[in-house]
This record gives sequence, C-alpha cells and structure tokens, in this order.
Amino acid sequence: MSEAIQEAPFWLKDNFAPVYEEVTATDLKVTGRIPRELNGRLLRNGANPQTGVSAHWFLGNGMLHGVEIRDGKANWYRNRYVKTPAYKDPTLDVMSTLGDMTMSMANTHVVHHAGRILALEEGHWPYEVDEQLETVGPCNFDGKLPGPMTAHPKTCGETGELISFGYGMTEPYLTYHRTSADGRMVQVEPITVKGATMVHDFNITRNHVVFMDLPVLWNLAGLATSGLPVVWDESYGARLGVMPRNGTDADVAWYDINPCYVFHPLNAYEDGHKIVVDVCRMRDAMKPGSNSPPMLYRWVIDQIAGTVSETQLDDRVVDFTRVCDSVVGLKNCFGYAAGFAPNLPVAEGFVKYDLDRNSSQFHSLNGGQGSEAVFVKDPNGKAEDDGWVLSYVYQPETDRSEVVIIDSRAFDAEPIARIRLPVRVPAGFHGNWVPDGY
Ligand SMILES: [Fe+2]
Repeated sequence: MSEAIQEAPFWLKDNFAPVYEEVTATDLKVTGRIPRELNGRLLRNGANPQTGVSAHWFLGNGMLHGVEIRDGKANWYRNRYVKTPAYKDPTLDVMSTLGDMTMSMANTHVVHHAGRILALEEGHWPYEVDEQLETVGPCNFDGKLPGPMTAHPKTCGETGELISFGYGMTEPYLTYHRTSADGRMVQVEPITVKGATMVHDFNITRNHVVFMDLPVLWNLAGLATSGLPVVWDESYGARLGVMPRNGTDADVAWYDINPCYVFHPLNAYEDGHKIVVDVCRMRDAMKPGSNSPPMLYRWVIDQIAGTVSETQLDDRVVDFTRVCDSVVGLKNCFGYAAGFAPNLPVAEGFVKYDLDRNSSQFHSLNGGQGSEAVFVKDPNGKAEDDGWVLSYVYQPETDRSEVVIIDSRAFDAEPIARIRLPVRVPAGFHGNWVPDGY
C-alpha cells in the first residue's frame, strides 16, 4: 500500500529551509571594493524553526544574521537565534501562551533606536539584542508598552522619534505608541476600530500617521486553511485612518478605500492637504485559492474632499520596499524593492524606482535569490540616492550566500563588492543597516 508523499511547503525547502548551527566566521573573502564610508553591520531577521517544521512561513523562531563592515573590510559574519522562551522550550504552544508578551518568536524585523537593537515580531514585546546578536531580553520601554508592538515601527527621518502601534485580538484592537528620539515611550493611545484585523505595517508623515484597517480578521478558522488564525472577510470593508502624530482616538479621520491587503508600504508624505501613500497592494490576502501578488500602488488622501484616489504605479510583483532612512515620512523621490521570482517571495532582482520621473531600473541577480534590499546613505553624498544598496543573496550554484553591495548611482551595474559567506542564509524577512554609534 503506497502513501502519497506530501511535498514540503515552500518555506521548509530549498533556501527557505532552516539552518541549525550558530556560526561565527571572521575570515570572509571579499571580491570588489567595500566603500570605507560603510561602518556598521547589516542585520537580517527571519523565521528559522528550530524543530525544522512550521505551519506557516511567518512562524518559526527568529534567527538573526549579521555582517560587520568597517574601514573597507568585512570583519565577521554570525547568525544567532533570538533566545526567547519559545526558543528555550520549543514544546511551548503559542496558542496556550496568548497574552504573555515575552513569548515572542522575534522573527520578523530588526531595528535600531536610541542605542538599542530590537528584534521584532508583531504579537509580542520586542527583544533587545547586542551588537554580537546575543539576546539581552524583552523590551517593554520601562513598563510603558502595554501590549504587542508591530515589527514595522518607523523612525522619523526628521525628528528621530520611533512611531509604532500594536494590534490584538481583544479591545482595544489597535493601540498607537510614540517613543521619543532618546528612547522614552511618551504616548500610548487606544484607537477604535470595528474588529480585530491583522495590521502588519502602517505609515507616518511629518505630522500624521496613517493606519491601514484592512479586511484580514482574527478568526481561528483560518488555521485550517492558511495556517494562521486570520481570514479574508471583505464585508469588513477597508479604511485608512489619518491621525496627528500627537493626536488621540477622537482625532482619527477614516477614509474608505477599495478592499485590499497591504503588508508593506514604501513611504508616505504630505503634499499640502493631501497625503501620498505608496504601498505594495494585494487584491486580497489569506483567501483560500486566491493568488494576488503585491504590486506598487499610490493612494492620495485628500483631507479636504474626504476622498482617496488609487493609482497602480507598476505591474511588476514587488515587495520588501525601502527608502533612504532620512526620508521616512518625508517626500521621497526614490524607492527600492525586491522584484519577486515567479511564485516565490524572494528577489530575483532589485528594483529602484524614480517616482518623480515615473521610471525604474532593475538589478538582476542572475539566478541569485535576494533578501530585502537596504539602502545606506553615502555620508559624503548630497542626492537622495547617493549611497549603496545592501542585501543577502543566496547563490544556488554554491549553496552559499553573500552580501552584495550595489552602488545606487549605478544601479543596474554589477555589485561593487561581494562578501562571501561560508554558509547559506535562508530566505527571510526584514533587515537593517545598524551604523556605528547607533
Ligand atoms: Fe513585514
């Protein structure tokens, strides 16, 4: 009697499969020239289930990968699990520990703010790690953070404030947080929404935040279909909520939009009484049988007319969008994105958008598989795109990864440097450049 062998889902095979060894490597081969202006470390997070299995790509223990670069040299590569209780006891059932804010997988993003490096996942408190990627412990901002924090807080390009939010299954379903540039959480504001939706990311501008209240709702029935406790429910509607950055629930102005889902915006900024929001928009998400890849769209919120216009900017499948850190929430011309390989959330190349000229350039990875592309500004540069784009790229030919450094000013040229790693870095989620003196 034969039994059908079930093929592993995409997130457990090929370069999505987890690695188990924590490696420290100092003898890194470099080809090309690393700019001497790059002094810091390129960090990247991802779900790396220590048991080897997980019910969804988004689940699994966080593993950080890092390469330190200084004075034109690559000093080390290392990878470390974020050692949360979920790592220390893999038999712990996440569902049975709901409400325990220390039970994070800490697998989604890694950011720096006010001298801290934080590994983030949207259901719990952040986890602080040190420069060597060793886990320090959960961070609740001296007891000020009441519940979960998004994995996508925004550091204002102008003030250095860390603007964030959390969402949950019980009221208040949405909570806004504002943290001063020196790391003190100074505002915690419950926001009224109709239901418990999955709010992966949001937007900031110079004076406002823009919440995305979209129809992916908390529902245990989703576990049977998507592997996550959420479902697509178009009857919920879709809205954008605009609130002053120091405002309260009563100040939120809600705008109806066409039903859709957005994991990641590119950026948002104010233009008089209008707010421009560029996003990777999907027609739907968590809807069984639906295939709705993300593409770049622009919403323009007219705060006087009370309307939102929606324009598709590109028909490439892109996500993991980034801008220069200094223009987050401010008018940007340029944006960077992962151009996804067919039916797989890894980059077959990177796209550089020039949004003022409505044009783009493509950097092909020639068979390599890229992670999120992180832009690092050239301290001697003037223009917004004076800098470098860094990413972890897996090379199937060698079954190893490398960090590529692309000159943003010659975006479709070969990388100016490749830092070869002795191991592969599994496909993952988000990362950041953490400069010296962060
Ligand atoms: Fe994300």
